[in-house]
Amino acid sequence: MNWDDARYSAMAPGAVLRRRYRLDGEIGRGGMGVVYRATDLELMREVAVKVVSEAASTEARQRLIREARAAAALNHPHIISVHDFGEEQGIPFFVMELVDGPNLAKARPSDLPRIVEIACQICAALDHAHANGIVHRDLKPDNVLLSAAGQRGSVKLADLGLALPGYGERISRAGLILGTPAYIAPEQALGQQVDGRTDLYSLGVLLYELTTGRLPFTGEDPLTIVSQHVHASVVPPRVLRPDLPRALEAVILRLLEKSPAQRFATAVATAAALRESLAATETAGDADTVAAVAILDALSRGHLVGRAAELSEALEFWRRAREGRGHAVLLSGEPGAGKTRLAREIMIQAAVDGAVVLTGGCYEYEATTPYLPFVEAFRRWVREQKDDSALRAVLGEAAAQIAKLAPEIDSRLGPFPEHPELEPHEERLLFFDAVAQVFERLARDRGLLFYADDLHWADRGALWLLGHLLRQLRKGRALIVGAYRDTELNRAHPLAKELVEWNRERLATRIALRRFDAAETSAQLSALLGENVSADFGDAVHRQTEGNPFFVEEVLKALVEQGAVRRESGRWKRREVGELVIPQSMKEAIGNRLDRVSRESNEALRAAAVLGKTFTFDELVAITGDRQEDATLDALDEAAGAQLITADGGDSFTFTHDKIREVLYEELNPVRRRRYHRLAAEGFERRRSVGGAPQYPAEKLAYHYITSPVGTRRPLTCLSGPPAWSLP
Ligand SMILES: Nc1ncnc2c1ncn2[C@@H]1O[C@H](COP(=O)(O)OP(=O)(O)OP(=O)(O)O)[C@@H](O)[C@H]1O
Ligand SMILES: [Mg+2]
Repeated sequence: MNWDDARYSAMAPGAVLRRRYRLDGEIGRGGMGVVYRATDLELMREVAVKVVSEAASTEARQRLIREARAAAALNHPHIISVHDFGEEQGIPFFVMELVDGPNLAKARPSDLPRIVEIACQICAALDHAHANGIVHRDLKPDNVLLSAAGQRGSVKLADLGLALPGYGERISRAGLILGTPAYIAPEQALGQQVDGRTDLYSLGVLLYELTTGRLPFTGEDPLTIVSQHVHASVVPPRVLRPDLPRALEAVILRLLEKSPAQRFATAVATAAALRESLAATETAGDADTVAAVAILDALSRGHLVGRAAELSEALEFWRRAREGRGHAVLLSGEPGAGKTRLAREIMIQAAVDGAVVLTGGCYEYEATTPYLPFVEAFRRWVREQKDDSALRAVLGEAAAQIAKLAPEIDSRLGPFPEHPELEPHEERLLFFDAVAQVFERLARDRGLLFYADDLHWADRGALWLLGHLLRQLRKGRALIVGAYRDTELNRAHPLAKELVEWNRERLATRIALRRFDAAETSAQLSALLGENVSADFGDAVHRQTEGNPFFVEEVLKALVEQGAVRRESGRWKRREVGELVIPQSMKEAIGNRLDRVSRESNEALRAAAVLGKTFTFDELVAITGDRQEDATLDALDEAAGAQLITADGGDSFTFTHDKIREVLYEELNPVRRRRYHRLAAEGFERRRSVGGAPQYPAEKLAYHYITSPVGTRRPLTCLSGPPAWSLP
């Protein structure tokens, strides 16, 4: 709020607004404005008046008025009544019922039945609001008032639906951060559609905080926090408070699901589950039997450590790009240096700014797919565009060309008329121009960020296309972010040649990610454990890992699995530094962790390594055999528990890091490797012939055949693949 403004200075105790409301004294200040105790001179009663800070735009203000009217129509014992709304010298204010008790931030209950009782009252209020089409959008302890102090106060929810719209605006306008991002649901932070479930997420944060005494995600700046809401998993509350009933923990975790569809559908369903969770009785001793691998969940991953200078440099390029100075930022570093992690932070900022964010990666084993990062990015983007006519508008005349990357376009907007056959280089130019056109259009409104991961594995076509885009988008509102392992480049590498060129033309800027120093390594360990570590422990880990963030993380996991670092009565304990056996290499650290899961699990993982970074259960069974389905599922569950892979939902899995897959793949002896590739290829073809795997890309199949022993190799012409295969 701009309190320097003379109009705002006039809003002080003693002032009478609209000749009716006399401000008597300040009660408190929040993100949205200042609240005063006041007297309604007409009805001669005490009220509360909130003077709203500079509402961003006319549109925002109008929405505020609309929402205020709607909120005024709500009538519920757990919602503060809005009596009136007005403007004084152009500054909006609300008149509300005055509540005498403290807010939840000042009077935090710790007793579980009381917490659940409060949460259920909030649910009742939310249910009423949601039924009337109002989403709170700013549920947090400051907005939960209690009608009286102590155990008896009942909930009065404040500021319903009155949060200023457009979080993007809030977070990106320097000095104007309203409300705290600590409670914000991912979809709201990213400016996507919000509904009642958005409030349920915030309720989850609030419950987490009340039960454990700690917020699920913290950080020094809004971006760090938002990034965790969007990506990081939550440390299960029972890690912090072991006496919490399992059922209550499950309710909290469900409220904190990233995707609204995974949360409870309604506030009523939430309240029912909450009540039930307290009624469920635990079997004795249950609290202590935390499975050995589950303890890894106690590590909190998601907090960005260090990289302040690198991030701000990259964000500066993003800022310039949004002003129409297109550019590329290339993050380089050794494996595990944190390139992908840093890129994620840049992407979150872009998404919060309302930009279009496209991402795609290159994969070692899929070198045969032309333009893979673009294929991935466009397929994903097309899938998200639900409306055909909007899709057509963006793609325009380029649709037929872009359909080569994302065949879905063909089925949705096609068929497209054939054009006369051209020379390959002409064909390619046409295709490149089409991609540039679409990028330009996507960038026009609020900017475009395209992230291409693992460029050291990119095919030549993708690199040429990137170069072409960089030249065409010099004046576009687009930033291209790429990541590559500098350790993989020699002078003959195709990327190395392009880099020289891009550099000469000043199209790209490289940001090299060095290893962490001892202090940063300690900071990373502290972030992972959620408490400060001693300098000698930090130093010991730094000596062995030399500050490679991935290595640090794996070392810590290995120590946790060995029991050298363990959790005891709500705190971390560890052996003396001298007694710690710290793995000497990244490979050894991963090896240690693989040694701790069963032989079956290792076997399944090795087979999966052949399939690539992401694989489906069906693909895996093609190798391990149909009769092994149950055993394979168990093996995968175990591996997921040990955080070697993650389940992506559906029947798809991803290695938690490519390096893990690489170690497993290297472990395979060449004969078996080839056999697995052949089994994979045959399995796919079998499934395809019975109509089971219609989407399976031909290039993947081709890869497995090529990697199979000579003799089983088949000519590629027998593969009927998507048009991606015939790209110029
Ligand atoms: N700045 C950081 N703060 C906290 N954790 C980090 C940071 N950088 C990296 N990490 C963690 O270290 C691990 C490796 O990082 P990341 O996957 O980004 O590496 P990379 O450079 O992309 O490696 P690769 O070349 O193998 O793809 C990840 O688990 C990541 O969360
Ligand atoms: Mg990476």
